[in-house]
Amino acid sequence: MSQDAILTKPMLHSLTGGIAARPPVWLMRQAGRYLPEYRKIRAQVPSFLELCYTPELAVEVTLQPIRRYKLDAAILFSDILVVPDALGQSVAFREGEGPVLAPIRSDADVARLRPDGIHERLAPVYETVRRLAAALPREVALIGFAGAPWTVATYMVEGGISRNFHNVQLWAYRDPAGFARLIDCLVAATIEYLSAQIVAGVEIVQLFDSWAGVLPEPAFERWVVAPTARIAAALRQRHPGVPIIGFPRGAGLLYPRYAAASGVDAVSLDTTVPLAFARDMLQKRGAVQGNLDPLLLVSGGAAMTAAIRAILDALTAGPFVFNLGHGIVPETPPEHVAELVALLHGV
Ligand code: CP3
Repeated sequence: MSQDAILTKPMLHSLTGGIAARPPVWLMRQAGRYLPEYRKIRAQVPSFLELCYTPELAVEVTLQPIRRYKLDAAILFSDILVVPDALGQSVAFREGEGPVLAPIRSDADVARLRPDGIHERLAPVYETVRRLAAALPREVALIGFAGAPWTVATYMVEGGISRNFHNVQLWAYRDPAGFARLIDCLVAATIEYLSAQIVAGVEIVQLFDSWAGVLPEPAFERWVVAPTARIAAALRQRHPGVPIIGFPRGAGLLYPRYAAASGVDAVSLDTTVPLAFARDMLQKRGAVQGNLDPLLLVSGGAAMTAAIRAILDALTAGPFVFNLGHGIVPETPPEHVAELVALLHGV
């Protein structure tokens, strides 16, 4: 990363430890169903995955929130489940049901995954990145992302969103060596996938570990911290200077362990992380990002304003990026996002 890029892009300044007069802001799921212009594009394609694999449309939906709001970063429009899809697992998104995958439950299922073929399937995503890198205003950073291995494995093993994670957790407990082969496959695929995104033009990567919070400490160490550390080390070696943000959602008291040992440059805070805890236990070692409750962005009004002020009061003395504690929900009024961004710009 060049000094020039750090100076022109507030996101890069904050993620490399800088303290900004105005904290940079972007929002998880900033492109999506809460925007009418997104729903219009979405209606033109038969499936959600096709939207992810059509560069022209994926570029358009990535840029939609950038046109509306003064955000400091664009996040590549894709999904964490393109990796299992590229590995050859059957993945479909059903209306109102979320993702549906043909579950992987055995060594034989893992052996059928095709790590060598991923770049072919993911080539349109890299093309989307190249076009975005050329199209974005110079002060707006481009974020690439992937799911972290544990979270992606939960979808692969449970066959979709899980209520209790019994299948995946029991596999990890009963047959750790077998489950490790699935995690190892995902570590390798994720390194390849994120490296290719960086080569194509992303300037920051975020690892989404949305279900990190379901594991007790030793399992958290093995299936969340260790795989993330392998990915972070490989990316740092291949692409020094590209900041890595980790989002171990629900990690609670294990957030400091994650910040210390996963090798990420910045941690994204979920809605439950107390601000004083984040300031005292996490921000001393690197940037933090977060953590407005997405439902306060739905409610708007005095409750939203007060919560934004509290976050700014607690975290702006150190390296900080304003974000939500989880993704924007579809019922969010777009005007509330405009209000939030205006407030952060001091208007
Ligand atoms: O704007 C952005 O943040 C970039 C795009 C993005 C999407 N998904 C688009 C999407 C990102 C970064 C993701 C990450 C993702 N996907 C996560 C990690 C973050 C989190 O929310 O915990 C997870 C767990 C997924 C898996 C996933 N994708 C689920 C469970 C669902 C169904 C639930 C839902 O909201 O519909 C999706 C679908 C999805 N991914 C949509 C979008 C815009 C909605 C699909 C549609 O428009 O039809």
